[in-house]
Amino acid sequence: MNLRRFSFALALQLVCLACASLAQDFKKQVIYQIVTDRFYDGDTSNNNPSQSAGLYDSTKTNWHAYWGGDLAGIQQKMSYIKGLGVTAIWISPTVDNENNNLASSGVSAPYHAYDARDFMRVEEHFGDASNSWTAFDNLITAAHQNGIKVIVDWANNHSNYNGGGEYGALYNNGTFMASDTSDPNGYFHHNPDISNYNDRYQLQYYTLSALEDLNQENATIDSYLKTAIQQFQTHGADGFRLDAIKHVTWGWEYSLANTVYNNKPSFLYGEWYNNTSGDAMYHDAYKFANKSGISELDFGVNQAMRDVFGSGNNFSELDSAISTENTNFTWQNDLVTFFDSHDESRLLTINNNNNRLHEAMAFLLTCRGIPVILYGDEQYLHNDTNSGNDPYDRVWMSSFDTSTTAYKLIGKLASLRQSNDAIAYGGWTQRWINNDVYIYERKFYNDVVLVAINKNNSSTYNISGLNTALPAGTYTDYLGGLLNGLGLTVQAGSGGNNPANAFTIPANSVSVWQVAAGEPGPAVGSIGPTVGQPGMAVTIAGDNFGSSAGSVTINGTAATVQSWSNTSITFTVPNVANGMYQVQVTTASGIQANTIQFTVLTAKLIPVTFTVNNAASTNNGDYIFLTGSTIELGNWGTTFDTAVGPMLDPNYPNWFLNVSLPVGITVQFKFIKIASDGTVTWENGSNHSYAVPSSGTGNVNVSWQY
Ligand code: NOJ
Ligand code: NOJ
Repeated sequence: MNLRRFSFALALQLVCLACASLAQDFKKQVIYQIVTDRFYDGDTSNNNPSQSAGLYDSTKTNWHAYWGGDLAGIQQKMSYIKGLGVTAIWISPTVDNENNNLASSGVSAPYHAYDARDFMRVEEHFGDASNSWTAFDNLITAAHQNGIKVIVDWANNHSNYNGGGEYGALYNNGTFMASDTSDPNGYFHHNPDISNYNDRYQLQYYTLSALEDLNQENATIDSYLKTAIQQFQTHGADGFRLDAIKHVTWGWEYSLANTVYNNKPSFLYGEWYNNTSGDAMYHDAYKFANKSGISELDFGVNQAMRDVFGSGNNFSELDSAISTENTNFTWQNDLVTFFDSHDESRLLTINNNNNRLHEAMAFLLTCRGIPVILYGDEQYLHNDTNSGNDPYDRVWMSSFDTSTTAYKLIGKLASLRQSNDAIAYGGWTQRWINNDVYIYERKFYNDVVLVAINKNNSSTYNISGLNTALPAGTYTDYLGGLLNGLGLTVQAGSGGNNPANAFTIPANSVSVWQVAAGEPGPAVGSIGPTVGQPGMAVTIAGDNFGSSAGSVTINGTAATVQSWSNTSITFTVPNVANGMYQVQVTTASGIQANTIQFTVLTAKLIPVTFTVNNAASTNNGDYIFLTGSTIELGNWGTTFDTAVGPMLDPNYPNWFLNVSLPVGITVQFKFIKIASDGTVTWENGSNHSYAVPSSGTGNVNVSWQY
């Protein structure tokens, strides 16, 4: 081979591997959420397209109409976005939406884009009248040139409104598939609207607010949705925000994630509303986040932040929300945190006080998790009609001022996330708290960030007895006084507790003190994805891996290293037995890093629906679970967290559940009853067995063995 050509090919490959590894470590990103229709009109020719004419309101007074924002508009504002310091944008669903007017008088249109009609095409109001990919491709190119990743909102629970408009009509690249009134192949569930949000069967199989509910277990729909999301990856989407994941068949979503990660590196986070610790489905929510490979929007922190910075509640509420979640969520630094979204009133509507907004932003950007800033918050936009609830939170982006305090604040803290690993990878320690003051520390080896917030409008407090892991020395406020912060002096102490000199914390202030002293040796802070089968590419991020490749092993078996840099390693999952392991990185000079958890699947996943007829009788709070011979079936686990389930019983005493299973493998399984007190009852007889097909979907139907 010609050497010149060889090295060119190699260089190309290295460039791509670098993109791949960056795509998987989202903990260093700050996400900017854009409601595409409300951001900027970059192309007036798509404002009133012929196939959906009349849905546009140039006066921007009908909040239910399209206002003209589009993909070209986001592209044209790329330097504003980059200047803000954010490194990723999350845009509205981009697929072709419902074309008809949903109102009998006036106009109601899916400007928010959660009413899909064709997942294979781009919405004409956002792109062009031929539903082509041009505007999307141009946006991706511009974003990537500016170092900005693009996260596409992906609403695959449903098509569109089933009571009017197009009656849920679904198309495959322009070809009609089915609608609510014409569905011979069972592409939709056709159940009533969800009425009980504590019923697992209703959540997944009933209809969410009259939105025609897709049947993901149908082989055609399964393949349609997976082909469609891969098409967006092919066009450059770096990640997906999965809409309404509590309402899509939970087991199926594991195979969706597996499909996405096999196609291309990505990051997935879902909207599990409401994964706060008080919710009846909280345990299901964190079990899903811990196992599926799909992270979640953090509604616990969202609620607590709104209460504390909006409604004046005490900081203890936020402190306890974080510590509870940190106990339950394995991948807590991957949780996607936010205090405002397109679905709730803006913080400034709850409390029209810019100080509280700034403090909330500073908290969000230094909290554990991947932060989302809602467009317009940096311009202090809010409309308080109807308490600022949807749609009045989806304001027109009327100002692009780069000199606001919020704009500068976001930039400073986004760059701290790049330079100090404690923010992205570190642990969390509360250091000092009262009703108005919260001092917390993030720490990753010798990288430390200490943040002190006083949210009282007039009271100062004397802070004494504060300990920190910051080494002895004097620290200036990293924010340079932007939010009234001050310096700190620390004395030498022991055991990671160095006493800070007492000080008076100013009212309305945030101080950030930090040291990026690095790590004494190789340090792993991240892995993504967290689950995958042999052959899948996985990226580890951290620091001090060295410039020459060392090794990555899983259960003693070496993985093929695809790329290796001082801060990022991409490897191929080696051929080891399925199971949950600790991944070991060792540098070229033989120094071992800390380990990190990874789940090795048996093979690629497809969805299989299990039914067990006439199962053991249960009382309230007892459930039937499935357990079996591979990690996908819980490796014979018998607890709520390790077995697969709870199964669903709309046809009690028959139970069913959709599960994602490894293709081409014969699995052994049994059904168990887990009583509300944890007592386990096994069905009798020998294990059932099932040969999982090599593609498509599967079905198993057996009777409980007495
Ligand atoms: C949650 C979205 O965030 C919301 O805006 C949307 O209307 C529903 N899911 C339905 O897609
Ligand atoms: C133990 C159970 O008692 C049995 O019924 C089951 O078949 C095995 N685990 C799995 O091999």
